[in-house]
Parts: sequence; structure tokens; C-alpha cells
Amino acid sequence: MQPMTIDLPAAVVAPAAQPAREDGAARSDKPVLIRLEQLTKVYTEGEQQHVVLDELNREFYRGEFVCLLGKSGSGKSTLLNLLSGIDAPTRGHVVIANGAETVRLTALSEHERTLFRRRNMGIVFQFFNLIPTLTVQENVTLPLELAGKSRGARQRAQALLDRVGLGNRLATYPDKLSGGEQQRVAIARALANDPLLILADEPTGNLDEDTGDTVLRLLLELTRDAGKTLFMATHAPEVAAQADRVLHLAHGKLVSDQAG
Ligand SMILES: Nc1ncnc2c1ncn2[C@@H]1O[C@H](COP(=O)(O)OP(=O)(O)OP(=O)(O)O)[C@@H](O)[C@H]1O
Ligand SMILES: [Mg+2]
Repeated sequence: MQPMTIDLPAAVVAPAAQPAREDGAARSDKPVLIRLEQLTKVYTEGEQQHVVLDELNREFYRGEFVCLLGKSGSGKSTLLNLLSGIDAPTRGHVVIANGAETVRLTALSEHERTLFRRRNMGIVFQFFNLIPTLTVQENVTLPLELAGKSRGARQRAQALLDRVGLGNRLATYPDKLSGGEQQRVAIARALANDPLLILADEPTGNLDEDTGDTVLRLLLELTRDAGKTLFMATHAPEVAAQADRVLHLAHGKLVSDQAG
């Protein structure tokens, strides 16, 4: 099967001049991977408007490990869902620099965003979200097959599952695995397609401390070894200590953005 291609004329924009960081911090000399432009998300419930993200402008660079902190309800998952294109903003844009072309995610249809996400992103969720009817190996090969990269998929899955210590559980179904093991499969799955960007939403939030530490260490090792950009929402300050950059969300704004 050939990879599906999408025609993106409206979405592909010239790599624009980079706006200065709001906090005046020094810009990285690494290439920009993600740019938020006036990114706003408002939920309307009845008469009430709830501004969850309020005109965020920011840039994130290739290879960075960005940690997103904030109280429950501050909008961490909302921001990750806009970055992945699972959700669309009310106003503003998410721009992803995808090699030679720069794609305005917000100009894509939902279907186009799904295809873009499959090709360029790996996602690790708090509740693992493995497909229960697929084996461990099939869960990891699925993103490759969906991207039309079936050839060599089983070997790649085997290699990744070896890295996360589950190379001997290929034929096991997710319900036979512990939470930590399921999350290790999810990490292998997120990396399967060699994505530009890994998004992780409280990946250790549902694990005990020791298991969470192991999962985090693996996620960091694998993403760093592969030179990937990792964007992680978490409540754990000890995770932030390992990040290149720590953002703090409150009242719809990024109230701080510091080196980890
Ligand atoms: N579909 C929706 N409709 C209305 N409000 C929503 C919707 N999704 C999220 N919200 C609201 O947006 C706010 C931010 O939610 P979000 O899930 O992004 O927070 P969070 O920082 O990830 O919290 P947590 O740490 O608990 O996961 C919350 O007040 C939530 O109630
Ligand atoms: Mg959340």
C-alpha cells in the first residue's frame, strides 16, 4: 500500500519570520518545529463562555523536551489536543514545520489532520488507549500500516518492544498486561512511525511511583536517542526537573516558560 498523500495548498505556508518570544527569553538556535499563533480555545456552555486558552503565541524547537504544568482544568489536555489536531481551536493557529514545508494545522480538514497526525505524531495517553482486540505487536505495527509502511513493520515493532523490555510479549493482548507494561507498549507505538513530535498527556498519571519512573525514563531515553521533540503534560514536578523547558499554564495564559 502506498502512503496516502494529501493536497495541502491552503495549509502550506511560507516559513514566516519568527515572532519574538513573549517572555523575552533567548531564542534557541534549533529549528522551530511548532508555532502557536494567537491560539485560543473557548468552550461555550449555555450562556457561559469559558476561555481555556487565551491567545497563546509561542515557538517550540526540534529536539526539545517541553514539560507543561498547570492545575487540573488549566487547559493542558486542551493544548495537547490542539497540537495533535485532535481538536480545533476557536481562533488562532497551530503551525508545524514539517521539513521543507510548514503546515498550518488549522487550515486542514479533520480528515487531513488525521492523516497528518498519523504520519508526523506519536501520542501517549494517561490511560494507555491500546486497542484491546490487537496483540502487543499489532498495536505497535498499526500506525505503520495506517501510514502505508507495512514492509518491515513487524521487525520495527520487535525492535521497539525489545527496547521497552516487552520483546517476549508480542502475542499478548493488552488486558493481560499491567498498567506499566501497557504504557511501555504505548511508548513503542508512539515511536513506531518515526514521528516528528511525541505528545504525552500525563503518561505516568495512572501508574504507581516506581512504575511511573521506569516508564518516564524509557520515554525520555527513546525520544532523546531518536532526537525527537517531546511535549508532555504532567502534574509531577520531578518530571519538569528533567525537561529542557517548563511551561506553566494558568488562567488561559502561559504564565512562565523557563529552562528546566
Ligand atoms: N468538551 C468540552 N466542553 C466544555 N468544556 C471543556 C471541554 N473539554 C474541556 N473543557 C474544560 O476546559 C478546561 C480545561 O480542561 P483540560 O482537560 O484541558 O484541563 P487539564 O489541565 O488537562 O486538567 P487535568 O490536569 O485535570 O487533566 C476545564 O475547565 C474543562 O472543564
Ligand atoms: Mg488533562
